[in-house]
Amino acid sequence: MNVTIFGASGLLGNALMREWSGDRIVGLSLPEVDVRNASQMRRAAKQTHPEWIVLAAAYTDVDGCESNQELAFSVNRDGALNVAEAAKQVGARLLFLSSDYVFDGRKTSPYEIGDARNPQSVYGRSKAEAEVRLLEMLPQCCILRTAWLFGMGGKCFPDTILKLAAARSTLDVVDDQRGCPTYSVDLARAIIQLCRTGASGIVHVTNSGDCSWFEFAREIVRSTGLAAEVRPVSSQQMARPAPRPAYSVLSAASLQPYGITMPSWQDALQRYLQERRN
Ligand SMILES: NC(=O)c1ccc[n+]([C@@H]2O[C@H](COP(=O)([O-])OP(=O)(O)OC[C@H]3O[C@@H](n4cnc5c(N)ncnc54)[C@H](OP(=O)(O)O)[C@@H]3O)[C@@H](O)[C@H]2O)c1
Repeated sequence: MNVTIFGASGLLGNALMREWSGDRIVGLSLPEVDVRNASQMRRAAKQTHPEWIVLAAAYTDVDGCESNQELAFSVNRDGALNVAEAAKQVGARLLFLSSDYVFDGRKTSPYEIGDARNPQSVYGRSKAEAEVRLLEMLPQCCILRTAWLFGMGGKCFPDTILKLAAARSTLDVVDDQRGCPTYSVDLARAIIQLCRTGASGIVHVTNSGDCSWFEFAREIVRSTGLAAEVRPVSSQQMARPAPRPAYSVLSAASLQPYGITMPSWQDALQRYLQERRN
């Protein structure tokens, strides 16, 4: 199978490029291809004639999106539509990466794929609008929502915590946002399996189990034996430009038909820390 990955230089793109074997993979990134450029997208799709396009390219700075709304929508929504148009033209299937931030976080049990979108941030809105338009345009596309991504090849939460824990004796981390940490390697493996089985519709893919950012940070510090004390604080005490959902745990039910079981986030974290040491 021919597969074209847009956003190959990002956190997930890196893991996809490393994990995907047995198929012909072309990874494309900025500056050679910009998803905002429709004719570039059409050309790239024509040249690589893929069975699958995986769209991992996005403007992912959630706080940055609040002050750069135009950029957020032009990359995350309009860019996705450009890629969908190109996929349609060459008859390729599309897997689009979306986010738990399409939800408002008011639920107290895991979000199912059919739950109503109600994004609270510009980033979440750009992803939610892309989802709706993509499903109209390419009803067979696969919309994969994931969350709290970490891994090699980009900036991620465990790295930030480890740097801070090495430099400070105490770390304040928010304890009132709950979600599912997700290792880029595990997500990449699930994506490969989903493409191979011809997945369509919305799927939720995260590592299993959930935690708050505080609990995640405490586990990172504990696992590495650093002496820093991790203290729980509220989101109000750590005000950020973009509002985040208080609860964005994603249900794994949509993965069952594909026979995919995701490892726990604690197990994933240990493997990531090992990979980081190597
Ligand atoms: N990270 C998370 O916690 C998280 C959570 C939920 C969903 N997701 C989604 O999962 C996907 C992968 O995330 P990630 O963490 O791997 O993102 P990332 O590390 O920020 O990588 C994004 C990639 O997109 C590229 N890109 C940005 N603007 C582009 C444009 N206009 N045209 C072409 N490429 C462009 C970036 O290139 P440069 O590096 O050169 O800018 C980079 O290669 C994204 O769709 C993201 O929204 C991520």
